[in-house]
Amino acid sequence: MSGQDPHRRLAPVVRLAPAKVNLTLALLGARADGFHELHSIMVPLDLSDRLSVSVLPAGAADSLHVTGFDPGPAPENLVLRAIATARRAAHPAWGRREPPPALAVRLDKRIPVAAGLGGGSADAAAAADAALEAWGVEVEPAARHALFAELGSDVPFFLAGGPALVEGRGERVTPLPWLRDADDAHERPGLLVVTPGLGISTRAAFRAWDDGARVPGGAARLASAHLAEELRKGLKVADLLVRASVLAAANDLGPAAAVVEPALVTFKRALLRLLGRPVGISGSGPTHWALYPSLTDAATAAGALRAAVATGELPSPGGRPPFIASTRILSTTTPRRDA
Ligand code: C5P
Repeated sequence: MSGQDPHRRLAPVVRLAPAKVNLTLALLGARADGFHELHSIMVPLDLSDRLSVSVLPAGAADSLHVTGFDPGPAPENLVLRAIATARRAAHPAWGRREPPPALAVRLDKRIPVAAGLGGGSADAAAAADAALEAWGVEVEPAARHALFAELGSDVPFFLAGGPALVEGRGERVTPLPWLRDADDAHERPGLLVVTPGLGISTRAAFRAWDDGARVPGGAARLASAHLAEELRKGLKVADLLVRASVLAAANDLGPAAAVVEPALVTFKRALLRLLGRPVGISGSGPTHWALYPSLTDAATAAGALRAAVATGELPSPGGRPPFIASTRILSTTTPRRDA
């Protein structure tokens, strides 16, 4: 489809870019291309970045203005890469000689950076999606998937619009039904996320796994396959909470993250002591998570942890107090596009 004149669009395109958490993350092996085969159940969260994308006049260059958490230097930002890649993918359907016009992006970063919460990947997915809408260009589902996969291993997950099983290096995404009774009538489960103030390089964590920082036995893979099967059959909120300790242990990158950042060992021990419930790690960390029956319960726990930071009972590795938030798992992300 050829694009309508995007310069006539006055209102910016607004997108929420939700964080993700890995409820499970099994590594099945290293591949020849340097990536690893995964089996992971990923869920989007209420905790989101917010992007606003406007079309610029002819002759301008793409620009990015960030508030909130500092994502590092703009040229390296995935948002600008996503727009450049989307422009290339959109050009054939755009139907003109010149490429689709430059965009100005305002990004309000509320998701901590390099935290295992997929914030950069969510921003890239949202930016590519918003750019296509701003230009008025439709891209076939297969081309859209290829565009997202090119941007990073975690990016295709955000096409699912809800919880999903993620396989391959991250490009095989199968949407999963979410909890049968988790709707507005029955409160959706709450999630406490705690991110210590130190970034972990995903690459370094995978390398530590390659070098032997792993638990033998394949328990994470079993737990991951089992959760996918149970969600398909229809799981309830209470069933998920009962499984929290199995899920919290089902991350093959947990031991690797602790090798990369040994301070995580004492940090997690303190969390376990203070919360008295299972604590998992998301992706390659350093974000930790704990499941609660409701958002209210997660918020109470967040308050207790903030008090523990003040007294020094919860350490602050990296020299900064940890980011602590109570949030909820989203069963679907599509209705929130323009929220
Ligand atoms: O794809 P992305 O750029 O997010 O990946 C960052 C790094 O994480 C890769 O360079 C690779 O070292 C590692 N990775 C991996 N296997 C995956 C995903 C990421 O080894 N499935």
